[in-house]
Amino acid sequence: MSAHATGTIAVFGATGQQGGAVVHAILDHKARVRALVRNPQSDRAQALAARGVELAAIRADDPASLAAALATVEGFYFMTPEANGLEEVEAEIRIGTTLVDAAVEAGVPHVVFNSVFGADRESGVPNHDSKHSIEEYLRKSGLRASMVRATAFMENFASVMAPSLEHGEIVLRLPLPEDVPLKMISVRDIGRVAAALLLGTAQAPGGVVELVGDELTGPQMAAAFGVRAGLPARYEALPLSVLPNALDRAMFREFAEAAGSPADLSAVRAIEPATLDLAEWIRVTGWTAPTDVAGV
Ligand SMILES: NC(=O)c1ccc[n+]([C@@H]2O[C@H](COP(=O)([O-])OP(=O)(O)OC[C@H]3O[C@@H](n4cnc5c(N)ncnc54)[C@H](OP(=O)(O)O)[C@@H]3O)[C@@H](O)[C@H]2O)c1
Repeated sequence: MSAHATGTIAVFGATGQQGGAVVHAILDHKARVRALVRNPQSDRAQALAARGVELAAIRADDPASLAAALATVEGFYFMTPEANGLEEVEAEIRIGTTLVDAAVEAGVPHVVFNSVFGADRESGVPNHDSKHSIEEYLRKSGLRASMVRATAFMENFASVMAPSLEHGEIVLRLPLPEDVPLKMISVRDIGRVAAALLLGTAQAPGGVVELVGDELTGPQMAAAFGVRAGLPARYEALPLSVLPNALDRAMFREFAEAAGSPADLSAVRAIEPATLDLAEWIRVTGWTAPTDVAGV
């Protein structure tokens, strides 16, 4: 194991979900963070500054601003912004490779890339293959690199994947067959694992950590919410056609295919023993059942 990091860790995406969790976990270790932000005056950037985070103004399309922001850091974490359509996938790759180039220019000792599960191969999912390309580019850069490959965020159950309450019953609907297990992780734990790698308190075997905190079928997920609510629960598998765009359809098709390879739930716990499973995530986030659609 290498010596623990004592210098500054740079974080790209610090005002977002994953980068924010990385910042939080690094601050928990009393280490220093420099956030690379496009708007230092934004409320989220200012909230980071209020917690002692140094802000470096950057532009993702300005390599000089990135290399300057990475000067003298001991580690660098980056994620890439969501591509919301096929036309944005190239932009995602460009941001990733520009960040890698800047890290090379600045001579960063260790880079952690927040990739996605399955990015070890081309899967045909455009916004996963983009991360495969960035991983390859980073690997060829000569930098010391670690990949943390995220699965579906548990936080989606508080937004786009939220269960409903219908006539006294919890109902979870996803475009996933009911016998297919979904691999998932909490954003909190993505941050904790990335921070452990950056701070040198843990190593990624082979330079990769697959971030899977739980793996459950639809009925099992619905049951976890039902148990918490003390209510009956059911799962309904929806067709892929309910998804609004080709990227999401390709992603859910890939989730079903990835179910053929069961996850190693111990890998992430070897780094962060307190990694949440879904039942624990439901408890620690204080999830409560939504209002019944029947209004009762
Ligand atoms: N949702 C899931 O279940 C899931 C699962 C696995 C992987 N992923 C992947 O996770 C990624 C999204 O991560 P997230 O949810 O943490 O993102 P997020 O919360 O949307 O945050 C995006 C961050 O990137 C910054 N950013 C965006 N465009 C930028 C630009 N042009 N220049 C500089 N900074 C920019 C944002 O800064 P501002 O504050 O300035 O906007 C923000 O800090 C996507 O690549 C997605 O494919 C998602």
